Amino acid sequence: MYRVTHKKALRSCVRNWHQGGQSVALVPTMGNLHAGHLQLVKQAKQLADKVVVSIFVNPGQFSEGEDFDTYPRTIEEDLRNLEEVNPDMVFNPDVDEVYPGGVEYETQVLVPGLDNIFCGAFRPGHFQGVATVVSKLLNMVQPDIAVFGKKDYQQLLVIKKLVNDLCIPVEIFGAETVREESGLALSSRNRYLNQQEKDLAAKLYQTLSGIAEAVQTGRDDYQQLEADAVETLENNGFKIDYLSIRNAADLGAPAGGELVVLTAAWLGEARLIDNIQIKR
Ligand code: PAF
Repeated sequence: MYRVTHKKALRSCVRNWHQGGQSVALVPTMGNLHAGHLQLVKQAKQLADKVVVSIFVNPGQFSEGEDFDTYPRTIEEDLRNLEEVNPDMVFNPDVDEVYPGGVEYETQVLVPGLDNIFCGAFRPGHFQGVATVVSKLLNMVQPDIAVFGKKDYQQLLVIKKLVNDLCIPVEIFGAETVREESGLALSSRNRYLNQQEKDLAAKLYQTLSGIAEAVQTGRDDYQQLEADAVETLENNGFKIDYLSIRNAADLGAPAGGELVVLTAAWLGEARLIDNIQIKR
């Protein structure tokens, strides 16, 4: 497992792989890796000959007052954890390598229709920051395929759209969410939960599962289902940013196709997001 910090070294290695006829997958992360990230790497290894994991805490996607300064940077521990799944390369650039002109002065990528709703409405500029850094990472690494977790469902759609709109020649693969036995989706932000909150947090997945089952058995009173779920969660101490049943393809109002129920909710200091796709 090579560790590189400069795009020149990264590019030359990836070029050699491509010239040797090998396909390359990218798994972008912000580090503080948990079992969910390791699963993305395992998935990537099944999809390509070589796997690059990027570890970069992107200042561009944190809004004023968010946890950029305190976001855990655990590179040594991350490298040790990665040994278990053994990617071919870890790309761990510093901020100047990614934004040599300064974060605020460089070109930004907007994804209209998707970047200002749901999480985007509560975290202004967040998806612009994600779209910008992911565009940069895709251009720096030039992978054949990039793997993202479905837990960040809106982020996955933002990335699929930007790749399509900007004609970036890469396939985007959405990997299933890894959950604890209780159903709680793994997330770096779960560390903000104490044990009591962690037990309670499982209620989020249970509530989304309840909606998915209800829709699958024929209910289509979506607003009522949403309102009931919000009430249940609030009664259990959650503060809900949003909980909504939407079209899975574009987060538009529910129509005939596959749906997704997605939510962001605060429990204590932790902002938890989760979703379930509803096949019909
Ligand atoms: O999901 C994340 O960890 C980040 O948003 C990503 C995709 C690595 C971009 O910084």
